[in-house]
Amino acid sequence: MNGLIEGTYYIETYGCQMNDHDSEKMAAMLEGLGLTRADSPEAAEVMVVNTCSIREKAEHKVYSSLGRLKSLKGRNPGLVAVVAGCVAQQEKERLLKRVPHLDAVIGTHCIADLPGLVEQIRLERDRVARTGFSPRTESLHLAAPSKGSSPVCSYVTIMQGCSNFCSYCVVPYTRGPEQSRNEHEIVEEVQRLAAAGVKEVTLLGQNVNAYGKHKEAGCSFAELLGRLDRVEGLERIRFTTSHPRDFHEDLIEAMASLGKVCEHIHLPLQSGSDGILKAMRRGYTLDEYLAKIAALRDKLPGVALTTDIIVGFPGETDEDFQQTMEALATIRYDQIFSFKYSVRPGTSARKLPHRISDEVKAERLAEVQALQERITDEYHLGAVGTEEEILIEGIRDRSGQPFGRTRTNKIVNVDAAEGLKEGDVVRVSITKGLKHSLLGRVI
Ligand code: 5AD
Ligand code: SF4
Repeated sequence: MNGLIEGTYYIETYGCQMNDHDSEKMAAMLEGLGLTRADSPEAAEVMVVNTCSIREKAEHKVYSSLGRLKSLKGRNPGLVAVVAGCVAQQEKERLLKRVPHLDAVIGTHCIADLPGLVEQIRLERDRVARTGFSPRTESLHLAAPSKGSSPVCSYVTIMQGCSNFCSYCVVPYTRGPEQSRNEHEIVEEVQRLAAAGVKEVTLLGQNVNAYGKHKEAGCSFAELLGRLDRVEGLERIRFTTSHPRDFHEDLIEAMASLGKVCEHIHLPLQSGSDGILKAMRRGYTLDEYLAKIAALRDKLPGVALTTDIIVGFPGETDEDFQQTMEALATIRYDQIFSFKYSVRPGTSARKLPHRISDEVKAERLAEVQALQERITDEYHLGAVGTEEEILIEGIRDRSGQPFGRTRTNKIVNVDAAEGLKEGDVVRVSITKGLKHSLLGRVI
């Protein structure tokens, strides 16, 4: 098997940034084979569905998408249909039985096998499942800059997997144990990206604060940030996700002292009740969490905070829920991502009694979201008249308006700004606060 093959591919992606980035890597590999990107699944000869199983709803979406494979294969019997991502890892070869028109199942550690499998399936029409976990991390790097939302922003994987086993979460099972990539490999990748014109990198891992706990890493996360801060041509460094238990003074120091590290942290709280946090096995109390963010805000006054909240965890009483509401009102996050608890296969919480009805979960979710909407509105209104540094990420197709983000990760559309292009860093004055974005004018 060698040489280029002709044809087109289409990748449908569900879930988190890790999946977005894996899809970018798979696209680069398929292009390496000679395939070109198709505009729709109907036009593709290789179709990859990169799946998410973090909540039941995400998994349902995947199965309805897989249902469509039958009609796609009906139109094009030569189609190579592949399922990758967390549902692939969770279900393994069972998926081949469940989805008759599927050719391959590729687990989260096996995406580097994709090109070989595509060639094999095209030649031999085999049906294959590759879902082993590998202790190696070679497949984590991306040969070319990501072609994601903007050519000047790129993801960089610094860790994979998670060994925390929060009681509700499927990630340790679908992404395997926590592993860090070597610091030199990461620095080299970021240097390459910066040389190719990338201005902002987002370092990815399920728990980036644990970077350096593994000997392959070579340094701590705060030290890694220090090394990346010196990469020439790079303007900004972001990272996600941080675990509050592993968030310490050295990272606060790094965020406060390193010029390229942006003033934003995503620090999932999950619940404001100590009882629920314990049942979730999060490893911190609300007071410990509050002390950490107080120290952070003390050193870095305008820092933006975002979080994840789960409502309706088994046994969550009205009082527990009120503690979450109070925590949100006290902390005043810039933005939150909130979810109804969803039972996940294999997790320890699946066996817990006192499940909360969907009706109560829906009510609590609506309450949390209404509270946060008010807080976000207040932040956006309060931003009017302030000055911000924006990295231009692109130009809006319809209006021709440049847009970018503040260092605190807020989207800003820039008014009447001719001549701006992707990658420019400009100062703007905020003129209007909208629900999901801000409007600004170049100063
Ligand atoms: N139910 C609901 N939300 C969940 N999350 C993870 N697992 C579950 C689940 N079983 C949420 C957490 C996590 C985010 C990525 O998804 O809030 O931080
Ligand atoms: Fe899931 Fe907890 Fe790991 Fe986050 S830290 S991926 S919530 S197990």
